[in-house]
Amino acid sequence: MSPPPESNPPSQKHLDETPRWLGYFVVVEGIDGTGKSTLVGGLAESLRGRGIACVTSGEPTDGPHGRKIRELAKSGRYDVSPEDELALFIEDRKEHLQRLIKPGLGEGKVVILDRYFYSSMAYQGARGLDPAVIRARHLEFAPEPDLLVILELDVEQSLERIHASRKGGADEFEGREYLGRVAAVFDDLVHPNLLRLDAGLSPEDLVGRVVEAMGPWLEDRG
Ligand code: TYD
Repeated sequence: MSPPPESNPPSQKHLDETPRWLGYFVVVEGIDGTGKSTLVGGLAESLRGRGIACVTSGEPTDGPHGRKIRELAKSGRYDVSPEDELALFIEDRKEHLQRLIKPGLGEGKVVILDRYFYSSMAYQGARGLDPAVIRARHLEFAPEPDLLVILELDVEQSLERIHASRKGGADEFEGREYLGRVAAVFDDLVHPNLLRLDAGLSPEDLVGRVVEAMGPWLEDRG
């Protein structure tokens, strides 16, 4: 028997609060190059086609903290300590929750995110912070989604996709070894409603699998 993964302390908080909201909260995670934004867009389009109101968004956001994160990334991420970097992502996420995520869910919409706090566990975890501690910090203020989708792709393929789409070398966010450590945290994640999908599937198949996983909620709303 292997011990439970370190990054997953027991958390029942989200299960004790049913119903938490009228809407449905979906988060798509995965390493760079897995096609998260394509899935987020395709899922929203499919749900809207069924008359379901959706909001799509992602992190880092385009808000003031998110912009600062992007500027720092451009100027060289390793000038910033992992702790300071995590603090920026947390500020960005708090603002995102208040401005977009919670209002959308409260209005009964499907809120679909490209990255959420699992990315902090993975990316800041890969810089040496403890993913379990990062998760615990988030559970103080950030609800877990109804469905967590992880797009899986091996690191070599991820790097190939990144190079093909950007026509340039990997930047500091995307070094091979670092990405391997990020992927390892995603591999260890647990969540009560977790869907791991092969990022090599077609965009249509990926959307179909997520809609299928949302089945019980879609049926409930008639
Ligand atoms: P993003 O702009 O979404 O880039 P991409 O389109 O490549 O996914 O995210 C920029 C980077 O920010 C990405 O490499 C992952 C990283 N990141 C963290 O390090 N921590 C976090 O909490 C989040 C949300 C993202």
